This record gives sequence, structure tokens and C-alpha cells, in this order.
Amino acid sequence: MYNPFTLEDKTIFITGASSGIGKAIAIECSKLGAKVIITGRNEKRLNDTFNQLEGDGHDKVIADLSKLDEIPQLVKDLPVLDGCVNNAGIAKTILTSFISIDSLEEIIQINTIAPILLTQQLLKQKKIKKDSSIVFTSSISGNRIASLGNVLYSTSKGAINGFVKNAALDLAPKKIRVNSVTPGMIQTEIYSEGLISQEQLLEDAKKYPLKRYGKPEEVAYAIIYLLSDASAWVTGTNLLIDGGFTLQ
Ligand SMILES: NC(=O)c1ccc[n+]([C@@H]2O[C@H](COP(=O)([O-])OP(=O)(O)OC[C@H]3O[C@@H](n4cnc5c(N)ncnc54)[C@H](OP(=O)(O)O)[C@@H]3O)[C@@H](O)[C@H]2O)c1
Repeated sequence: MYNPFTLEDKTIFITGASSGIGKAIAIECSKLGAKVIITGRNEKRLNDTFNQLEGDGHDKVIADLSKLDEIPQLVKDLPVLDGCVNNAGIAKTILTSFISIDSLEEIIQINTIAPILLTQQLLKQKKIKKDSSIVFTSSISGNRIASLGNVLYSTSKGAINGFVKNAALDLAPKKIRVNSVTPGMIQTEIYSEGLISQEQLLEDAKKYPLKRYGKPEEVAYAIIYLLSDASAWVTGTNLLIDGGFTLQ
């Protein structure tokens, strides 16, 4: 059947696949024919994603990406890829005057340094093919909006937006494309640790022109576009998926 978004014959590595957006990316990519290698820290949740994958030949690896010195070995154990989705991330609410070296390191390590280092290692170890696609899950907090308490999260994602544009230019001669998606609020576990109350979240959702938060699959579909050959002429872009939030 004609499908310009097919991922048949592509091997794709997805970080943060044990939950939320990454889980949806892994499952939807497998439905479109990709072989996926998924990673996360929580074995039970990663297995749950693994068991929902369609087709054969998938793999999984438990890894804590904040252990930066372990990233080279993680990459060494990967096959050569057609795509990589740097999706793992955490949120943290803190006001500017309370920033500490520890809080800064905690969020920058997983949201910024780990995906950049992972990308660098894929290139250095020749684990990513010509004509491949690298996608980052950024956020509207990265460069489009500011909100109270989001200073560190915003900083961590803003750096990714800068990286994406520059790496896209760097890697264009190798025909490797680098893009990101910038979602608004998506219903996942990321704010489950009491960072924001359920009442606040319900009230906030009303501010979206489409009157709801996004679903993980709705981000996954955009990432699939960026991984597929349908986006062969797209590089260095930030694809906005925000229910119209930043129109206001
Ligand atoms: N939800 C939103 O509203 C929203 C909006 C814009 C952008 N984003 C971005 O989307 C991405 C996915 O977020 P989500 O909403 O799906 O959150 P989530 O449900 O909390 O999932 C986060 C994922 O990241 C993994 N992760 C976190 N720290 C890790 C570490 N040190 N090492 C390895 N894996 C780690 C988690 O693994 P474990 O489960 O194993 O810990 C989990 O698989 C993040 O980059 C986030 O910033 C989310």
C-alpha cells in the first residue's frame, strides 16, 4: 500500500521509551514497520512498552542517560541506525533565585548534555547512516514561551533548539537530517511528582485554543514524519505541536 510515511527497513533508537511520549513513539514506529531499539531506566515500564511493539526484531536496553561516561558504551552496543529520537527528559520547577549547581546539573545533564553527547557518539562511532534522521523532543518552553518556575527546563530545551539548527548545518553534507518537535503540554507522567496540581493542569488546559492538552501519539506522528523519507528535504526545523497555544 502506498505510504510515504512508512518506516519499513528502518532501525530507530528511541530514548525515554518507558513512558509517555517516548512510549507512543516506539509503538507507533513499530506499527509503521520500523525495528526499534528502546531505552529507559525503569525495567518494568520499558518491558511494558516492549510488549506492545508490533512486528519482530526489536530490542531494549536499560540505561541511565545521566551517567554520561556510559554513553559511549551504550552507543557501541547499538547497530547502525536509520534514525534516533532523543526524547528522554525531566521537568523541574524552580524560581531563578533558588537555582543551585545541583539543580542546574540535574536537568541540563539529562535534557541537554546526554542527547548532545549521544548524537556526537553516534557520529563518531559511525552508528548512524547517510540519509538518516535525528529528532529531538524539545518544548514550546525552549524558545516560544516563558512560565513561572520553568527557568531551568526552558534553558535546557532552548539549548537543544540551538544545537538542532547548528548540527543540521554541520551534518547536511553527510545527508544526515537533524530536527526537533516542540510540543505544548502533553498528557504524560512528566508532571506526576506533584510539581503542578491536577486542578492547575485542568485549568491550564482550558487556555489552549483546541481546549485540551495533546496526546503522546500526536507528538509521535510528527516525529514519524521527521523520521520518514516524507521529510527528506526538511532539516534544522522545530516542528510546533501545541494545539494553537502559541498563537495567542
Ligand atoms: N509532557 C509534556 O507536556 C511535554 C511537553 C513538551 C516536551 N516534553 C518532552 O518530551 C520528552 C518526554 O517527556 P514525557 O512527557 O513523555 O515524560 P515522561 O512520561 O515522564 O517520560 C520521560 C522519559 O524519560 C526517561 N528518562 C528520564 N530521565 C532519564 C535518565 N536519567 N536516563 C534515561 N532515561 C530517562 C524516563 O525513563 P524512566 O521512566 O525509566 O525513568 C521516561 O521514559 C521530554 O524530553 C520532555 O521534556 C514533554
